[in-house]
Parts: sequence; structure tokens; C-alpha cells
Amino acid sequence: MRDINQYKITEAVKDSFQTEPGSRFEQLLHSLIEHLHDYTRENSITHEEWMRVLTFLYDCGKISTPERHEFILLSDVLGFSALVDMLNTRGGATEGSNLGPFYLDDAPVKKLGADLSEGRDGAIVLVHGKVTDTLHKPLAGAIVDTWQADGAGTYPIQEQEHGQDKMDLRGKFTTDSEGRYYYTTVLPKPYTVPYDGPVGELLRAGNRHAWRAAHLHYIIRAEGMADITTEVFFENTEYIDNDAVFGVRKSLIAKVQPVRKADQFDYELDVKPDAVFEFDFILAPEG
Ligand code: BEZ
Ligand code: FE
Repeated sequence: MRDINQYKITEAVKDSFQTEPGSRFEQLLHSLIEHLHDYTRENSITHEEWMRVLTFLYDCGKISTPERHEFILLSDVLGFSALVDMLNTRGGATEGSNLGPFYLDDAPVKKLGADLSEGRDGAIVLVHGKVTDTLHKPLAGAIVDTWQADGAGTYPIQEQEHGQDKMDLRGKFTTDSEGRYYYTTVLPKPYTVPYDGPVGELLRAGNRHAWRAAHLHYIIRAEGMADITTEVFFENTEYIDNDAVFGVRKSLIAKVQPVRKADQFDYELDVKPDAVFEFDFILAPEG
């Protein structure tokens, strides 16, 4: 390996790994080395720039805890997470979007028509729709697992030291025989992703803000179907066109409509809504 130079080094590094020929691991590793070397050559990276990158990654590791994963945040603001979501959306199914850091898999099971807002400030909205397969056949017994911020843009899980219960504003609903889900909740407000760490520094260096458009999070599951993790957004709201983590897609936006006197809902609700938001989820078969 003495006959090495800035071009031959790429093959030499690839060859130094004894990977299984044709394996996915080999493909991903070789491609990573090629792109990293091309990036370095194309930009003639200096020692100072090289060290700045490594210090940045070190700082991301240093601030990370089980509750705060700075590398996921980095992936989010670079559009890496969104790109993976886009590449893994199945044909005909609802588009995927950010999981974010606030999901809890043991959220309480709630009955259809329940109210998640529990007296919080903000407009009460009836959220409803259907879960179907890609041929529009309703999926009865599908699980609609949702979580969200409150009317001030805060997740209760972030406010535990102020007496909030981390299980608030979340729940798992089961669709009825017509594939319907429905519940009332408070309309969430936009909020910022954490920007007091290295990722915040990156956003400031690039004159970017840290705001997310207001959204509701969902994981939808049904037997024999591939799960979807997604978010839905409200038309004409702040940051809808410049969400900090690139979570918005046209197909994930719907309108919040005021409830009019004449509106009749065929649902038993615990709380009377001020507004209504309808969104249908489509699942594709598993496998
Ligand atoms: C969220 O949607 O909850 C979120 C996503 C990325 C970073 C922080 C929060
Ligand atoms: Fe969120």
C-alpha cells in the first residue's frame, strides 16, 4: 500500500475491509467511503475544517442522553430523517413523516369519542377519519396511536417537573367496524426543536429557525398491513412551508373547519368541539 495517493486511497480503504461480497453491509460501507472521499477531494477539506467536523460530532455525543438524542436531531435538520421516510413510504399508502423524540409505546388505550384535552387552554377540535387499505376498504380494529403538543406548543412529557403527566395528550384508539376513529383534543401550536446544543449552533450558522409547523403525530397499525409513522398538519398555519425538520408533505395537510350549528356528527363525544379536522390513513399490505 505504498503506492497510494489521493485517488488510489478510496479503493485501498474499501479493500481493507473483508466484507461478504455482494452483501448489503459491503454496499453501504463502500458507498459511504466513496462519497466521503469524493466530498473531501471536491472541497479540498483543510485540517481546520476536518477538526471542526470531528469536534461538532464529539459535541453532539457529549450533549446526548437517553432523552435527548442530538444525532437524531442532526439527521432531522439535515433532511436525512425525512429522506429515509420518503424512501420507505409504500405505493398508495399515507406518506411517512417524523417520529420525533416524544413517542411512548405504552400510551393509554382510550375509547372512541374520548377527549384528550382534559381542560387545557385552546380550541377543541374533533379529529376523525378512516383507516383503509390501498383499495379504500375500511380496516376495522386498526390501532391509531397518537401524541401531540398542547395549545402552547409543549409536550406534557417536557413538563413533568411542572406537574404534568407524561401520558397526557396521547392515546391509542381502535377503529370501529367501519374503520373510523374519532376523538376530541386541543389544537396544538408550533414549537421549536431543541436549539441549545450543537445542532442549534448549526441552525444559527445557517440563519435557520428551529420552529416546527403544528402537527399531530400518529403510528397506525393493522393486522397484515405495514405500520405507518406519520404526522398531519393544518392548512394555512405558521411554518407549514418551512418546517425545521422537513416533515410537511402536501398529502399530510388538511383543513381545520369551524363547527357550524347545522353540523351533525354521528359520534358519541365526551366534549363538544369548536372545530373539526378530518384525515384518512391508508395502509399498504405488509411484506
Ligand atoms: C417532534 O415532532 O416532536 C420533533 C421532531 C424533531 C425534533 C424535535 C421534535
Ligand atoms: Fe412533534
